[in-house]
Amino acid sequence: MELPYAEPYKIKVIENIRKSSRQEREQWIKESGYNLFKLRSDHVFIDLLTDSGTGAMSDEQWSEIMSGDESYAGSRSYFKLLDTINELLGMPYFLPTHQGRAAENVLFSALIKKGDVVPGNSHFDTTKGHIEFRKATAIDCTIDEAFDTKGLHPFKGNLDLQKLEDVFKKYQKEKIPVCIITVTCNTSGGQPVSMKNIREVSELCKKYGIKLIFDAARFAENAFFIKTREEEYKNVCIRDIVKEMFSYVDGATMSSKKDAIVNIGGFIALREKELFEKASVYNIMFEGYLTYGGLAGRDMAALSQGLWEGTNFHYLESRIGQVAYLGEKLKEYNIPIQEPTGGHAVFVDARLFLPNLPKEQFQAQTLAIELYKEGGVRGVEIGTLLADRDPQTRENRYPKLELLRLAIPRRVYTNNHMDYVAACLANIYDRRNDITTGYKIAKEAPIMRHFTVELEKM
Ligand code: F0G
Repeated sequence: MELPYAEPYKIKVIENIRKSSRQEREQWIKESGYNLFKLRSDHVFIDLLTDSGTGAMSDEQWSEIMSGDESYAGSRSYFKLLDTINELLGMPYFLPTHQGRAAENVLFSALIKKGDVVPGNSHFDTTKGHIEFRKATAIDCTIDEAFDTKGLHPFKGNLDLQKLEDVFKKYQKEKIPVCIITVTCNTSGGQPVSMKNIREVSELCKKYGIKLIFDAARFAENAFFIKTREEEYKNVCIRDIVKEMFSYVDGATMSSKKDAIVNIGGFIALREKELFEKASVYNIMFEGYLTYGGLAGRDMAALSQGLWEGTNFHYLESRIGQVAYLGEKLKEYNIPIQEPTGGHAVFVDARLFLPNLPKEQFQAQTLAIELYKEGGVRGVEIGTLLADRDPQTRENRYPKLELLRLAIPRRVYTNNHMDYVAACLANIYDRRNDITTGYKIAKEAPIMRHFTVELEKM
């Protein structure tokens, strides 16, 4: 028989987590204004809020922490990370930053100005935020298949070349400072982008003289999907796939809190010296000197090691395998999810899950609250609350998909935890027809409201 995957690591340190009673959880979530961001983590049993900065570092990463060099300038740990980025990504220049959105802030300061347009595949919220903050517009060119959760397209993160070319034709070249491919595409469900699509987008950008960058937070998971879903890459090793992916772009912003398996960190990787020098000025201003950029030397050392571990095939096989495992469990219970499962999370289709709940009462948020009350599991709403209000009309924006995201931290939970999560959702699914009322907003911030919003039961 073919041997199944098994985690290519064993556990050396554990952290105790505590179960609570339903009564306690009902109290805690009410006190939190029915906003899961406001819960104390001690009140959560299994935390699937995010896979960002929540991974478990290896013993080798911890030993890098001890040997990090804390020199203000010219740190040995900086050069270690530089060597890794040169070798792994084939990018000659890099700037360290304290996390992904900081990399966006620095690079976009050098690139984007008022009135510009920035096409891409469903930009992540901080990316969009940094574009809109500069009075520029993010244009979503993701393929339509991404918005049908039941369709089985293997690369739902792909850009629609026609939509992209329409943008290139409609606006002058000077108005399009950059095109961004997010690998994998978080917003559409951790869905990958194929190598073919990356190559074609790159050719189109070259034809129109537009710069192309990756939002590379989950580049290694994307490479795994290229290997396993794109026929011509099945015998190519992950690191060669990564090299080829990066060969098509001019640079990248990276949140190292994802695929580099560290708790904090980010960077900008660049091919051209000119842009690097321009961005360097902003890096010094916003983040710190060029050889630390808001990070301790030890953080850069652990990050360098994490980049190697995060691109190991056997690690990725168990990582993506665990996400698929949870997805399969949910499907066994007939729970509607975004299919095929993506890289870092399972996305439950809340609109299909709660058919008797009006969209005005926040379907995905209601499901997230139910899941917490059921078993102390914390997921996150990727739906109407997150989509915010239209800046002009101030009406709620109802996104194409109303999802509950269950993001799985790297190397943290076992498949028993996944079974527990699936059982919680199955119990809710059994009584789904009784869930007919949701929540209304009691208090909200003018922008990025989902972090602080307070809700009331209808
Ligand atoms: N780009 C993508 C695709 C992301 O998913 C994130 C963060 C960022 C950029 C920003 O990076 O958090 O280091 O500043 N995503 C987290 C999440 C927060 O939960 O998906 P950051």
